[in-house]
Amino acid sequence: MIMKNVLVTGGCGFIGSNFIRYLMEETDFAGRIVNVDKLTYAGNPENLQGISENYPDRYVFHKADICDADLMRKIFYDYDVDAVCHFAAESHVDRSIRRPGGFIHTNILGTFNLLEIARKKRDTVSLFHHVSTDEVYGSLGEEGLFTEETPYRPNSPYSASKAASDHLVRAYHETYGVPTLITNCSNNYGPYQFPEKLIPLMILNAKEGKPLPVYGDGRNIRDWLYVKDHCEAIWTVIQSGSRGETYNIGGASEMENIAVVNMICDILDEILPPAQGQGRRSLITFVKDRPGHDRRYAIDFTKVQDELKWFPRESFSTGIRKTIDWYLRNGTWVENIRSGEYQAWIAEHYG
Ligand code: NAD
Ligand code: TYD
Repeated sequence: MIMKNVLVTGGCGFIGSNFIRYLMEETDFAGRIVNVDKLTYAGNPENLQGISENYPDRYVFHKADICDADLMRKIFYDYDVDAVCHFAAESHVDRSIRRPGGFIHTNILGTFNLLEIARKKRDTVSLFHHVSTDEVYGSLGEEGLFTEETPYRPNSPYSASKAASDHLVRAYHETYGVPTLITNCSNNYGPYQFPEKLIPLMILNAKEGKPLPVYGDGRNIRDWLYVKDHCEAIWTVIQSGSRGETYNIGGASEMENIAVVNMICDILDEILPPAQGQGRRSLITFVKDRPGHDRRYAIDFTKVQDELKWFPRESFSTGIRKTIDWYLRNGTWVENIRSGEYQAWIAEHYG
């Protein structure tokens, strides 16, 4: 499909910024990106350094809240938006447990606003892509995988808010014929991830010799997806996916949290041998479990693999090395992102 003016919401966040870079630098996309981001603690314009300079005619940024319906409508009409890639969300489960209100507001009402505008501009908006999560399906036992048919059973305020927004997207397709797509993906990791999430938090703490807080028994399982593989999957689905459909995107990399943390410790020990000779695994501290902590996520992505020929390129062992390398090489980015609201969160959350 030809997209001339793509509204990317949340483009200064982790996945959104990787997606904008991917679209501009690695695909044949020739249109314009209109990036709308409220710049919450998780939104960082530095994630897109070089983009506005390198693509002055094809990239526009607006600091704006998707909950501001009038402003969103103006942006849609001013730029004649014909496609929406909707990433903007409050995204961290632990924050949703402490303060769920913002999740309801941004993730549900914000998505509703965008859908309403897309519905009214139905003659020109040819795509509404919602980037969602596998957490809407709840938790798996030891066996089985999430498919697109798995019933929704969200367990955290975050996943409940994403489930609600998925339902709205689906309803706007069924009721109004908005040309929607939903992708439900597993846990992402890679460059530009805010260091409150497991992998960047552990990399930076392990590098600095700080405690590595592992929740509960550390045996919870996530299916890790390298962010660039995710961006490629989104682009594949946008180009070839059937409108109104949902596609699961996974990394084929199920790992227990403790195995992830051990691996990070071992790779860092190899790259930066510890001074006293004591390996970084000694920094691991088991802490009180997260309430409602989902035990296992794992994705069956046969649909996108068979129908659209997408498959993740990175294994966890290749992706984690690239990620560690990126965090070690980007000290200034790390310093800047940790100088703001981050300190308050770490103090509140970890004491
Ligand atoms: P993130 O928290 O890094 O970024 C979210 C971005 O949205 C930030 O730039 C923030 O400023 C912006 N934002 C928040 N509220 C906004 C508002 N009201 N108006 C405009 N902008 C706002 O999140 P992420 O990890 O990049 O996740 C992107 C999307 O992917 C989210 O919808 C998330 O639910 C989904 N997702 C993420 C993962 C993951 O592992 N990170 C996995 C599955 C799905
Ligand atoms: P997280 O990165 O918060 O993603 P999500 O909750 O969306 O899966 O957490 C990934 C896993 O790591 C999850 O099982 C919770 C666990 N975890 C820890 O053990 N310690 C931590 O400090 C964090 C942030 C997460």
